[in-house]
Amino acid sequence: AQHKLFLLPGDGIGTEIMAEVEKLIAHLNNTGATDFATESGLVGGSAYDVHGAAISEEDMEKALASDAVIFGAVGGPKWDNVPYEARPEAGLLRLRKDLGLFANLRPAICYRALAQASSLKPELVEGLDILIVRELTGGVYFGEPKEITELGNGQKRAVDTQVYESYEIDRIARVAFDLAMTRGKKVHSADKKNVMKSGVLWDEVVRQAASDYPEIELQHILADNAAMQLVRTPKQFDVMVTDNLFGDILSDVAAMLTGSLGMLPSASLGAPDPQTGKRKAMYEPVHGSAPDIAGKAIANPIAMIASFAMALRYSFDMIELADKVEKAISDVLDDGLRTGDIMQTGCRQVTTSEMGDAIIAK
Ligand code: NAI
Ligand code: MG
Repeated sequence: AQHKLFLLPGDGIGTEIMAEVEKLIAHLNNTGATDFATESGLVGGSAYDVHGAAISEEDMEKALASDAVIFGAVGGPKWDNVPYEARPEAGLLRLRKDLGLFANLRPAICYRALAQASSLKPELVEGLDILIVRELTGGVYFGEPKEITELGNGQKRAVDTQVYESYEIDRIARVAFDLAMTRGKKVHSADKKNVMKSGVLWDEVVRQAASDYPEIELQHILADNAAMQLVRTPKQFDVMVTDNLFGDILSDVAAMLTGSLGMLPSASLGAPDPQTGKRKAMYEPVHGSAPDIAGKAIANPIAMIASFAMALRYSFDMIELADKVEKAISDVLDDGLRTGDIMQTGCRQVTTSEMGDAIIAK
């Protein structure tokens, strides 16, 4: 059966790195490995220039009708002063909201060839493969009230509210457990139940959900300790599930154990469709549109290609093919090929498209 991919390259280096994914898809289709039908749309500043909005209704409909959205990056100085509702990020937020994407998957993988470049000792990170599962639609980023009030005496008061309902915790826990079943079957759940009621409920609901997964080894960890342990002995972790705020911070900590922004993929998943069981999903690199290097053909396409590999794995169950793509990335790094952002002495610096070609050749 044909799978529908909707490609949204976006702005800046988004188009340059998406071109490498398009080459890879064409190669996979040509060799009969896949049967993807692709369509492309506009998002971010490039959509604003054409439609006056960060994403058009037509492209939103295509995103909703696709089996997976592959997203590049949005933004750039050209659009710093567009109306707030049409700012580039609004396209990303609209997609997340309308696709119902509540689970953000952030892998931190340390490729052997890059272990030397880590800020930690190479032996601490070599072979590192952590998956952080962050709740994306609840918590303190969205809880009400959320306000700054004048107190009348020249003082102000700021309030953010952390809110979680048990269904939100249950569904993210189940995503983490499902993923862990395909990996090391070990899950750390991070919260601050020692000081937060939302943490108490978090822990209670995660434990309840875990009773449906007898094979999973579930461990509780306080979020601050998780930050410390990630930097001290990161390889003790496999899957970590946590809320929106702690997940934001812990996933950035984990990410930086492994090197450059240009290497980091992500996935965002929604609830399974009651009829088909398939989840809505969007795959994107963690980095932005890198206006400082856009148009120079030097961007690292690996985060984008690794995001596509996550689509193969999580949206299409093409596990072997996803493994092959990830192995190809690892192999070209072993061969000493580097884009500028990950350049090391003794390695060969290549362009965006040379890196893409080398990965496809592997
Ligand atoms: P950025 O991630 O675009 O760039 C940060 C630094 O990392 C820059 O020096 C850039 O050259 C480098 N870099 C990033 N990706 C790279 C790659 N693939 N290869 C080589 N080097 C790479 O973050 P920044 O500069 O804060 O934001 C630039 C624009 O991107 C802004 O308009 C921002 O709003 C937007 N942005 C968009 C995101 C998205 O679309 N999801 C996420 C983060 C920022
Ligand atoms: Mg962050």
